[in-house]
Amino acid sequence: MKRKLVIGGNWKMNMGLKETKEYVESFVPLVKDSASTVETIIFPPFPSLAVASELLAGSGVFFGAQNMYYEEKGAFTGEVSASMLVGCGATHVIIGHSERRKIFGETDELISLKVKKASETGLIPILCIGETREERESGKMEEVVRKQLTGSLARTTLAEMENVIIAYEPVWAIGTGLTATPEQAQDAHEFVRSILSDLYSSDLAAKVRIQYGGSVSPGNAKELFNQPDIDGGLVGGASLDPVSFSKIVLCT
Ligand code: PGA
Repeated sequence: MKRKLVIGGNWKMNMGLKETKEYVESFVPLVKDSASTVETIIFPPFPSLAVASELLAGSGVFFGAQNMYYEEKGAFTGEVSASMLVGCGATHVIIGHSERRKIFGETDELISLKVKKASETGLIPILCIGETREERESGKMEEVVRKQLTGSLARTTLAEMENVIIAYEPVWAIGTGLTATPEQAQDAHEFVRSILSDLYSSDLAAKVRIQYGGSVSPGNAKELFNQPDIDGGLVGGASLDPVSFSKIVLCT
C-alpha cells in the first residue's frame, strides 16, 4: 500500500513574527505543485502560529505546533491546549520530541496523555521516539524504541492510530550532522512497524507513516525517503531556510 510522503519542518525555538512572514512568503511558491504527492507541514513557535495560519490559507502547506498540554484549560501556566491549536488552524502537533523528553523531563506517561488528547481534538500527532548514542552502542536500540512506543501509545486506540504519524529520530543524529545511514534508518523503521503490528495489527502497521529525523538535508533526503519503510522526514536545521527545505520537499 502506498503511503503519502509527509515532511515536517521543526523550527524549534527559532523565527519570530517577521521571519515567519518572510519565510512563508518565499517558501509557498517554491513548493506550490507538490501538495498532491507530499504532505508538507511547518512547525513555527507558538507566537508565530496565527501569522502562519493567515499566510498559509489555501496554499496546500499545513502548519502545526511543536508541543501542547493534554488538559482542556485552566491553571496550567505557560501551557497551550489542543483546542487552542485547532482554533488557530493548526492541523498537526509534534509530541514527545527528544528535546522535550530530555530538557523538560517528559515521560512516556505524559506523552501518552498528549497523544490521546491531540487525537481526540482532531489534531494529527507526530509522536517522536529514538535512542541515544549510548543506548545504540550498548545494543539497546530495540528495547528503548519498544518501550517508548508502548508507553507513549498506551492510551491510543486502533481507530485513533490511523491518524498518528511516528517520527523515528535517533537522538545521536539530531542537530549533529551525523545522519543514520539509509540502511540503519530502514532497519529501525522496519522494527517500529513490527512493534505497531504487535500493538495493533499488521494492517494498521502497514498504514502508519513513519518519518525519519536527524540531520536530514537536501543532500541525503532522497536516499532516505526512498527506503521502503521511510515515509518522509522531520527536519530541524535544514528547515530553517526556505530554499533548502523546499529542496527536501521536492527531492523525490
Ligand atoms: P535536525 O533536527 O534536522 O536539526 O537534526 C531534527 C529534529 O529535531 O526534529
